[in-house]
Amino acid sequence: MIKIYAPASIGNVGVGFDILGAAITPIDDTLLGDCVSIEPSNTFQLNCYGNFSTHLPKDIKKNITWKAWKWFSKKTNKKKPISITLEKNMPVGSGLGSSASSIVASVLAFNKFYKTKLTQVELIKLMGILEGSISGGIHYDNVAPCYLGGLQLITDDIHNPTQKLPIFKNWLWIIAWPGITVSTSTARNILPLQYSKEICIQNSRNLSTFIHALYTQKSELAIRFMQDTIAEPYRISLIQNFLYIKTALLKLGALTCNISGSGPTLFSICLNISVANKVKEWLEKNYIKNNQGFVHICKIDQLGARKIRI
Ligand code: HSE
Repeated sequence: MIKIYAPASIGNVGVGFDILGAAITPIDDTLLGDCVSIEPSNTFQLNCYGNFSTHLPKDIKKNITWKAWKWFSKKTNKKKPISITLEKNMPVGSGLGSSASSIVASVLAFNKFYKTKLTQVELIKLMGILEGSISGGIHYDNVAPCYLGGLQLITDDIHNPTQKLPIFKNWLWIIAWPGITVSTSTARNILPLQYSKEICIQNSRNLSTFIHALYTQKSELAIRFMQDTIAEPYRISLIQNFLYIKTALLKLGALTCNISGSGPTLFSICLNISVANKVKEWLEKNYIKNNQGFVHICKIDQLGARKIRI
């Protein structure tokens, strides 16, 4: 049997809409990501369990793991029936790369099981197409970090569509999912179709300065330029009290508060564990709406998707 774990991820990272993404892992070792296991079988089977399996569509043909298998078997001509188990640990529509986690774990598990010769670039492209089929637009900022780990810059270059960036090792990433969902396609559809020249210049300046700050390890500069002019100004209307929350977290000593991917998860960066714990407690008290929601203190997951022991 093969079992693959694929971590949660933060799309956009507050400054790079559709082109920056970070894989994350809770510092308390909670498994925040989906797992896919595969066994040989006489008939095709897909079984789902895990905390968030009730979020999945009842119709198997709408399940992303099933779609992934269809695409995969068509592309590689592998038809041998298999039994797939999807452990759905990630809430759907949370902004934490839930669909990417299922897609990456599925595609890598199929790839290992069928021992195909697909290249890393071909696998990423396939993951991106699958992501696009459910979110209303191909974007790699969740699948790439989820697959390869770390902070990834999506270049879409034909030879190497994604590049790993340096990180600040001391940054703690607090993520808070309130327990309610926002569909990625809804959050994409509210964005304008066109942007002014000033906004484009501002966005290029923010992103390039942020990347310069990563390479020169200037943490304070990176934080100041972690500002999105493309998506966040429009999406804050989907997050109740966003500005109030941001002000409160900054007062507690957090460096930032941004939307993770298409939301409603928020992420905040802190430099030390005592501030991170205060931010976590505040978010638990003020942002979580029900007993499904959660807050985790995370670090960057440098490993990405990986085989795990059964
Ligand atoms: N870049 C994507 C978006 C991420 O913001 O729509 C979705 O999680």
